[in-house]
Amino acid sequence: MEKTFLMVKPDGVQRNLVGEIVNRFEKKGFTLVGAKLMQISDDLAQEHYGEHKERPFFGELVDFITSGPVFAMVWEGENVIKTAREMMGKTNPAEAAPGTVRGDYGVTVGKNIIHGSDSPESAEREINLFFDSKELLTYTKQE
Ligand code: CMP
Repeated sequence: MEKTFLMVKPDGVQRNLVGEIVNRFEKKGFTLVGAKLMQISDDLAQEHYGEHKERPFFGELVDFITSGPVFAMVWEGENVIKTAREMMGKTNPAEAAPGTVRGDYGVTVGKNIIHGSDSPESAEREINLFFDSKELLTYTKQE
C-alpha cells in the first residue's frame, strides 16, 4: 500500500493545529502508521530540503523548520501521496483553495503549516530520513 510523509511544521504545532490536521487525514480514511513529535537538527533539515539548497530562501527555510518541534507522520492508503497534496493545498497559502489545510490556516509561503512528499521517490526518501522501519506499524482497522 502507498505511503507518504507528512509533517506539521513548527507554526502548525505552535498554533495547536496537530489534532485538526490528524483529524482531517483520519476522517478521509487514510491510516496513520507512524508519528512523532520531534526537534529537527540542522543536519536533518539541510538533508531534507537538499533540493532547495541553491534557492535564496534556503537559510530561512532551515532556520524555520528547526525553530521548534514538528509533528512527523507516515500515512498509508490508496493514492495517499497525491490526495494528501490536494488536501494540503498549494504551497503558497494565498493561492491555496479554501477547504485545504493551507487554504484554511496559512498566510505566508514560508510558514505554510504542513509539508508533504510530492512523489513516490520523495515519499520513500523522506520516510527513511525521518523514521526507522521499526517505528512504522502494520495493522488492520476494524470496519
Ligand atoms: P515545503 O512543501 O515544505 O517545501 C519547500 C518549502 O519552501 C515550501 O514548503 C515553503 O514553505 C518554502 N518556500 C517556498 N518558497 C519560499 C519563499 N519564497 N520564501 C520562503 N520559503 C519558501
